[in-house]
Amino acid sequence: MSKRCALTLLLIMAVWNSGSSEEEEECKNRWIHIRKLPSRFNLDLLANCSEYPMLDDLCPYLGNHGLGQKTHNRSRSWYRTDSSMLELIFHRRMLEYPCLTQDPFLANAIYLPYYAGLDALPYLYGPESNSSALHGLHLFHFLQQDNPQIWARHMAYDHFLVMARPALDFSQPLTNDPPIWGTSFLELPQFFNITALTLEARAWSWQEHAVPYPTSFHPANLGLLESWLTRARRSKRSVLALFAGGGISGGSATPNIRRSIRSECENTTVDSYYEKLCEIVDCSSGVCEHDPIRFMRPMLQASFCLQPPGDTPTRRSTFDAILAGCIPVFFEELSAKSQYGWHLPENEFEEFSVFIPKEEVVFKGLKILDVLQRIPRARVRTLRERVLKLIPSVLYRKHNSSPGLRTKKDAFDLAIDGTLDKIRSRLQDLDFVI
Ligand SMILES: *[C@@H]1O[C@H](CO)[C@@H](O)[C@H](O)[C@H]1NC(C)=O
Ligand SMILES: *[C@@H]1O[C@H](CO)[C@@H](O)[C@H](O)[C@H]1NC(C)=O
Ligand SMILES: *[C@@H]1O[C@H](CO)[C@@H](O)[C@H](O)[C@H]1NC(C)=O
Ligand SMILES: *[C@@H]1O[C@H](CO)[C@@H](O)[C@H](O)[C@H]1NC(C)=O
Ligand SMILES: *[C@@H]1O[C@H](CO)[C@@H](O)[C@H](O)[C@H]1NC(C)=O
Repeated sequence: MSKRCALTLLLIMAVWNSGSSEEEEECKNRWIHIRKLPSRFNLDLLANCSEYPMLDDLCPYLGNHGLGQKTHNRSRSWYRTDSSMLELIFHRRMLEYPCLTQDPFLANAIYLPYYAGLDALPYLYGPESNSSALHGLHLFHFLQQDNPQIWARHMAYDHFLVMARPALDFSQPLTNDPPIWGTSFLELPQFFNITALTLEARAWSWQEHAVPYPTSFHPANLGLLESWLTRARRSKRSVLALFAGGGISGGSATPNIRRSIRSECENTTVDSYYEKLCEIVDCSSGVCEHDPIRFMRPMLQASFCLQPPGDTPTRRSTFDAILAGCIPVFFEELSAKSQYGWHLPENEFEEFSVFIPKEEVVFKGLKILDVLQRIPRARVRTLRERVLKLIPSVLYRKHNSSPGLRTKKDAFDLAIDGTLDKIRSRLQDLDFVI
């Protein structure tokens, strides 16, 4: 070998070595292995997108790796995103995770790319509803048969997956026969040890942890994020309180928080500062679900966005509101505070949100608008500044986005951090040597 050639080789090796030791450092305790699953656990479930026993054809939402179609042709960051596609969005982002390893025995965590929520649809809405205790067993059997030592190494404590629905949909007690609602995936002893990322956790959960609902905003670079932040910061807030959602008209006659909101909203007085004290965007029959323009514009113009519980305590709208710089108003702790600790720090809620207990409103006549009107304007500005700061960490940026944007941790990055921490502490509790 010539001298020059050897030198070049040395240089290359030096560069290569420094790169790899940097990687070693960055990836220490963060290695993830993506378990190879047969396509019946993921891609086949997408191929059947038009055949699910539901009102909606899911096919339009699969586009752009689960982000859905763009809201309109010229849009760069806005998509018609369906929350149930988080399983797909997450899988795509996992593929570009910087600390992947091919070797499951070197990994700190094992990701199962199983589209659990899609696979649950026939049990939830279809012909399989009476056998909902079977959901997931085919996956378990596969994992027992194919390289069972991967599962066995840490008794599955290092395994995780995404289930893009509330945990309630997967926690039907095995003793309910016939089932009332949901599959029993999280009740099966076979899956007790795994970590599941759900859109909503149960009040006393063990396996699952809640992660933000995906919104419609998925920027691909820092410039697109920053121009949105500027728009949200500068937006004129001419409405005090906004409610965007359904279940506001008709329904049951029993008092509930949504009825209270409607009745307050319908007879508001005038205010010297706001043009309007209250506005309702009626999202009944799911009209807003894939049409973010309907609610994002009003949210940009409101100071406070009301987040009453509905069928479930959590709402995607909480994250839409944060994105719009609209201060969320919660009526129970299960709506967010006890859910999204990895993304919305539990001890900082009073710095970016308002809490009004629903019992006070529904049974004791406390007026939501009075409470909000009494908050000094300087305090409202401080709250909003904090909300704006949360935006980068609750959005799911677009896959393959620019290196600049990747320096800001988004909802996916924080979910991975949380998952790795949770797995680490469980293994430590169990005295596994890691
Ligand atoms: C997809 O649909 C076909 C035909 O309806 C069915 O035979 C198959 O089992 C389905 N696959 C999955 C993974 O649900
Ligand atoms: C959007 O783009 C598609 C494909 O490029 C085209 O077929 C469609 O007509 C466009 N829609 C509008 C409203 O411009
Ligand atoms: C489930 O079982 C109940 C009661 O046993 C029965 O009434 C119902 O028709 C069954 N549903 C399906 C989808 O088979
Ligand atoms: C879950 O962990 C316990 C020990 O904490 C173990 O006995 C059990 O076999 C594990 N379950 C599975 C399905 O691996
Ligand atoms: C709002 O107006 C309706 C009728 O217009 C009335 O029944 C109701 O008591 C009013 N509510 C409040 C809070 O003033």
